Amino acid sequence: MGGIKTLVFLHLVYISTCMEQLDIIYEWKQLDFQFNTPEARQQAIDSGTFIPENNMPMGLEIHGDRLFITVPRWRAGVPASLTFVNLKDNSTKSPKLIPYPSWASHSLGSDGKPEIVSPFRIRADKCNRLWVLDNGKIGNLEGNATKFPPSIIIYDLKTDMLLRKYTFPEDQVKEDSGFANIAVEDTDCDKTYAYAGDLGKPAIVVYSWEKNESWRIEHHFFHPDPLACDFSVKGHNFSWTDAIFGLGLSAPNADNFSTLYFHPMASYNEFAVSTEYLRNQSIADENFNAFRLLGSRGPNAQSSASFVDPRTGVLFYSLVNLNAVACWRTTNKEYSMKNQGRIYMDDVKMIYPTDIKVDYDENLWVLSNRMPIWMYSKLDPNDFNFRVFSAPVLQAISHTACDVTPRHDILEKFANKIKNVTQKIANKINPSSAVCASSFSFISVLLLSSFILFM
Ligand SMILES: *[C@@H]1O[C@H](CO)[C@@H](O)[C@H](O)[C@H]1NC(C)=O
Ligand SMILES: *[C@@H]1O[C@H](CO)[C@@H](O)[C@H](O)[C@H]1NC(C)=O
Ligand SMILES: *[C@@H]1O[C@H](CO)[C@@H](O)[C@H](O)[C@H]1NC(C)=O
Ligand SMILES: *[C@@H]1O[C@H](CO)[C@@H](O)[C@H](O)[C@H]1NC(C)=O
Ligand SMILES: *[C@@H]1O[C@H](CO)[C@@H](O)[C@H](O)[C@H]1NC(C)=O
Ligand SMILES: *[C@@H]1O[C@H](CO)[C@@H](O)[C@H](O)[C@H]1NC(C)=O
Ligand SMILES: *[C@@H]1O[C@H](CO)[C@@H](O)[C@H](O)[C@H]1NC(C)=O
Repeated sequence: MGGIKTLVFLHLVYISTCMEQLDIIYEWKQLDFQFNTPEARQQAIDSGTFIPENNMPMGLEIHGDRLFITVPRWRAGVPASLTFVNLKDNSTKSPKLIPYPSWASHSLGSDGKPEIVSPFRIRADKCNRLWVLDNGKIGNLEGNATKFPPSIIIYDLKTDMLLRKYTFPEDQVKEDSGFANIAVEDTDCDKTYAYAGDLGKPAIVVYSWEKNESWRIEHHFFHPDPLACDFSVKGHNFSWTDAIFGLGLSAPNADNFSTLYFHPMASYNEFAVSTEYLRNQSIADENFNAFRLLGSRGPNAQSSASFVDPRTGVLFYSLVNLNAVACWRTTNKEYSMKNQGRIYMDDVKMIYPTDIKVDYDENLWVLSNRMPIWMYSKLDPNDFNFRVFSAPVLQAISHTACDVTPRHDILEKFANKIKNVTQKIANKINPSSAVCASSFSFISVLLLSSFILFM
């Protein structure tokens, strides 16, 4: 009996010391760019084409050695809105952003319009193409927005050449439209589909690579929930009425269609639909019931970006009011509070998780950017404000409700863990080697020792 109590106690200690399942790969106080020369940088600052505090990283994607980062043109002074850093260069944890594919693609043309205007989120597909969903608006936070039509810009990641630029037809873009999130169904490289969420005027614009055509699908599940529009992040209270936002595509099902998991930003609910119903507008219109409500994340659990890891089938999503990233196994029958796992939660480091991806080597990536503070107040330029986190998916989900390890392995892991923890305690008492439990306080060791003595 006492032995079991000890085991349980050890387990609790272990979990509480190893809650942070992701490592910080990069962190920035402010963003900076790799200009061609120091003079060019100074000139950009002097002319106002680079205003450091107006640059906010919004989306991320990983491909090969490159980590892509978008910097929307919400305010003036964004020199390049699509950039990357070299993952191989580990000389700094605050690398300068390199414009993609070149500086030229970001310089204003005679029409005041760069090739890439203002993307929020992007997707590298398995066919080595980078899909850039361009929102098309400049300066919309400064009340003097210049609007260009939204588009999908597609680059060849092997050659960095522009493959295609598809501008959304006028009748698919409404007065209040805002295109921030994209999912790409790349099961077949020739018959690829992209799904772009309209958070301003609820809809999904579906683009067919094969047909070079798009259509607009509407459904009431895309709408914001009026009871979920209040947000509170780090003491900033605000109301957002953003519609469909998080888009996560599963691996293909037996019928070769994927499932699109989606949620509005102003909502506690998660929904799903087979892409069979999105690929043809009239089929979508005729099958309203094909769109399903999965369930609720619970109060205060509004979510921005989400992503499905096709291999483990785990849906990852942010919880913006809770400064957290959570997960749910799509093989679960029920979508409820109790079968969601918590990957990372931190009131300093994870303020506003803004994008989530799993790369092709099975690593989870998260970007946090403190956006509400930036929008409604001011970021402290002496503090780390933007962070990129990563960890192998299996590590990130281990010991959470999303753990995919088979049952007998879990028991074995548990036994190992107890052994390891015991070892760690021994190490702590007789400190010679440092292990994972950096936050494993001496007090808990003392408590534990007295607990063991007590029995
Ligand atoms: C990164 O740094 C480590 C040492 O800290 C080194 O072993 C490794 O080779 C570096 N990686 C690359 C790709 O340069
Ligand atoms: C928009 O307004 C901001 C701040 O008021 C100003 O700095 C910027 O130059 C303006 N942009 C344009 C295109 O007028
Ligand atoms: C696709 O359609 C766009 C219209 O937005 C057109 O400009 C472009 O040339 C087309 N591309 C191809 C490859 O057909
Ligand atoms: C902001 O909202 C939180 C909870 O939603 C509440 O506790 C707090 O009092 C609010 N703060 C202000 C300044 O209204
Ligand atoms: C799914 O795609 C595979 C490969 O293209 C094909 O062999 C199979 O018949 C398809 N299955 C269905 C149900 O269409
Ligand atoms: C969409 O589905 C309808 C049947 O509901 C069919 O008649 C039509 O040809 C399909 N459209 C396309 C573009 O495949
Ligand atoms: C326990 O430690 C061993 C080696 O130190 C390691 O291989 C194993 O993964 C650890 N197990 C757990 C569950 O942490």
